[in-house]
Amino acid sequence: MENDMTQLAALDFELPSRNVRPLRTRLRAVLLGCGTVNSGVLDGLAEMSGAVEVSAVVTRRPRPGKDGRTAWLTDIRDAFDTGPDLVIDGLPDCPAAEKALELAVERGIHVVSANKAVIARRPDLEVRARRKGTRFVYSAAVGGGVPVLETVIRLTSAGERIARVRGVLNGTSNFVLGLLEQGTGFDEAIAAAQAAGFAEADPSADIDGLDAAAKLALIARKAFAFAPDAASIPAQSLLSLDPGQVCGARENGLRYRQLAELTRLEDGTIDARVSLTALPEDHPLARPENEENTVEIVCESGLKVVLHGKGAGRSPTAGAVLADIRDLVEAGEV
Ligand SMILES: NC(=O)c1ccc[n+]([C@@H]2O[C@H](COP(=O)([O-])OP(=O)(O)OC[C@H]3O[C@@H](n4cnc5c(N)ncnc54)[C@H](OP(=O)(O)O)[C@@H]3O)[C@@H](O)[C@H]2O)c1
Repeated sequence: MENDMTQLAALDFELPSRNVRPLRTRLRAVLLGCGTVNSGVLDGLAEMSGAVEVSAVVTRRPRPGKDGRTAWLTDIRDAFDTGPDLVIDGLPDCPAAEKALELAVERGIHVVSANKAVIARRPDLEVRARRKGTRFVYSAAVGGGVPVLETVIRLTSAGERIARVRGVLNGTSNFVLGLLEQGTGFDEAIAAAQAAGFAEADPSADIDGLDAAAKLALIARKAFAFAPDAASIPAQSLLSLDPGQVCGARENGLRYRQLAELTRLEDGTIDARVSLTALPEDHPLARPENEENTVEIVCESGLKVVLHGKGAGRSPTAGAVLADIRDLVEAGEV
């Protein structure tokens, strides 16, 4: 893991980029996807209509053709033909999302995305966008409504050196662990997470720790200017735990949590891992319930910041996307 990190150290992820292409008066935006996240973004954009015009919304299944000046489309290329300044990516992890982000970067279109899996897998997209002077931002991809990346960026901009970031970054696994500790079986707990809208039809990325590993990869870019390969971050699956073990631990004052950790080692390399750890119940990182996230950021100066809040769901995640869009609008002095 440490070698992978070192090899990728040449990539430049330092923020903020001061070389952002100026925006014209009213931003033309395309929404890719209109599910949990982007339906909330679309609602929020209605209040920013003086600054942002939604030229098209793309979904997989057809929706009514035109809504005011917004075209509802099923072909992503048709949406790019509307000439957007900004692409707002609320697609799932899929080849279409990867291609759309490639196209946006190639055409010099600003990107706001919540799609951690694609962004983690394609660090080159951010680097290329930065070189072109276009924004490629993804606050919602880590922590949902909890400002993890924003805080890391602020701290490093203020001259702090990050020593460690660790926390509960995956709401679905936390929700499932909460049910396991009450004696619910694994399959039933997954079904409850799906019914509550947290787990996807295929919940393996959450359960196997891959989602948390992708988020660590994104944090590492901002905290350490490194782009680790998320797939090579060691991750322990919830399936390796016996549900009885989780329940028993709770009875003994311990709570299992899926802990994602990044640590700067003494030799300057970064250790990254996702593990299942039994923490004393009064430990701050044992605190998140259901889909909540809690993240602790420790700086070499001794400064410690603890963030806690809703890590997923329509409103907090859409709020983080909208904040990125507002930053973009303000940067262009629209
Ligand atoms: N949900 C959260 O709390 C949360 C939090 C943080 C980050 N994220 C990330 O945000 C992204 C969106 O999540 P979500 O929960 O909003 O997903 P979602 O509810 O499943 O919505 C996905 C949207 O993408 C559309 N879509 C899927 N494949 C498409 C394709 N090939 N072409 C065009 N449209 C396509 C779907 O169309 P239809 O409507 O026709 O199905 C739907 O509108 C994901 O990358 C996720 O990891 C989500």
